[in-house]
Amino acid sequence: MSALDDALVSPETYGDENAIHAYLSDLRKSDPVHWTAPEGFRPFWSVTKYADILEIERQNDKFHNEPRSTLMNIQTEHDLAALWGGPDPKTGRVSPFRTLVDMDDPDHRAYRGLTQAWFMPANLKKLDARTAELAKRYVDLMMEKGPECDFAREIAVYYPLHVIMSILGVPESDEPTMLKLTQELFGGADPDMRRKGEEGTIGASTIMDFFAYFNKMTAERRAHPGEDLASVIANGKVKGCPLGDLETASYYIIVATAGHDTTSSTIAGGLRALIENPDQLAKLKANPDLLSSAVDEMIRWVTPVQHFFRTAMEDYQLRDRKIEQGQALQMLYISGNRDEDAFDDPFAFRVDRENNRHVAFGYGAHVCLGQHLAKMEVRAFFKELLGRLQSIELTGEPKRIQSTFVTGLKTLPVRYRLNA
Ligand code: HEM
Repeated sequence: MSALDDALVSPETYGDENAIHAYLSDLRKSDPVHWTAPEGFRPFWSVTKYADILEIERQNDKFHNEPRSTLMNIQTEHDLAALWGGPDPKTGRVSPFRTLVDMDDPDHRAYRGLTQAWFMPANLKKLDARTAELAKRYVDLMMEKGPECDFAREIAVYYPLHVIMSILGVPESDEPTMLKLTQELFGGADPDMRRKGEEGTIGASTIMDFFAYFNKMTAERRAHPGEDLASVIANGKVKGCPLGDLETASYYIIVATAGHDTTSSTIAGGLRALIENPDQLAKLKANPDLLSSAVDEMIRWVTPVQHFFRTAMEDYQLRDRKIEQGQALQMLYISGNRDEDAFDDPFAFRVDRENNRHVAFGYGAHVCLGQHLAKMEVRAFFKELLGRLQSIELTGEPKRIQSTFVTGLKTLPVRYRLNA
């Protein structure tokens, strides 16, 4: 136990970008595979180097997602398990959900296979026009609110939510509820985002509300299948059988949550990076062909998903450390994406960065299913915005969400001029 280890699991540290990067930069140099034993948490290895993250992720037979896929303190693990009578006696899973990120092969391959083709660029092409239309709608809204708004709170959160909800087939009237639920689920440790009366990092009533909503949706899509992704999931079969209630609801939940905060964080954090690097903004405006590489750089720069965990299935040598079977490893994407051995000048934001093989989407069998969709959304938004932007500046200090898992800006106050 040490002050360093406690700081490495503290949402407050993550709320302060300089603080978390200072800790992780030190670890990359001094102890890149660091045994971390914070008070109130089961211990684990913090893996901070880019190459080590890839080494683990590519060996998904040796490093499993189940039973521990993200950082949680012992109290929350207890509370979550108590919610549904867990932990699972076979696997040790405490979460009431069983999403793709909680699965390993052969189940993972089978469940991912249900929607993999749907998320590929060839299929997503049909969403091009719809995404462009939504991007325009939200840049129009920005204009209406102008000349000032809180970009993170008033624009960035709604646009990706809208895309993902229209894909799933959630009606627009339910979007505010979904927004609230996803923010409570992921921002649970931040006092500004938490549901009133809920003490833990994830609230029981939030989880129950998610299940209730999506169970109803499954029943509807089974009775009346449509073209949306929810119908693909509700009517999908694994080994010839329909998905169980748990797996079906968990599938919607991962798509709804993973596709939302991550993308809005990228848009808000990407805009902030452009404002704080006016030479890069000017370069991008002058060279719209750089949009794709700029979007990759925004995603590396922001790295909305700070980490995922794996558990070693056998003893393993990683650098000079002996990882024992059963020990957990935290792969810190936020650190890998600032690794001096993997990126030239990693603390510089460059819209024309070449060979930007960042790990913000993870790697290997679990690599982000929605990565093409996410990039398409971010591209569409900035294409619309930059085409109309005359000027933009900050009017206050941006603030980050205090969360160790998915994070980003909770406020980005800006003043701007846009063309109609
Ligand atoms: C910039 C936005 C996004 C980022 C940074 C991001 C990041 C990630 C990361 C780091 C993982 C885990 C990868 C691993 O374990 O190797 C992941 C998994 C996943 N993401 Fe994303 N994501 C984003 C957007 C989306 C979107 C738009 C969707 C879709 C709707 C989505 C759906 C998923 C799903 C379903 C998984 C689980 C895949 C699996 O375990 O097989 N994500 N994402």
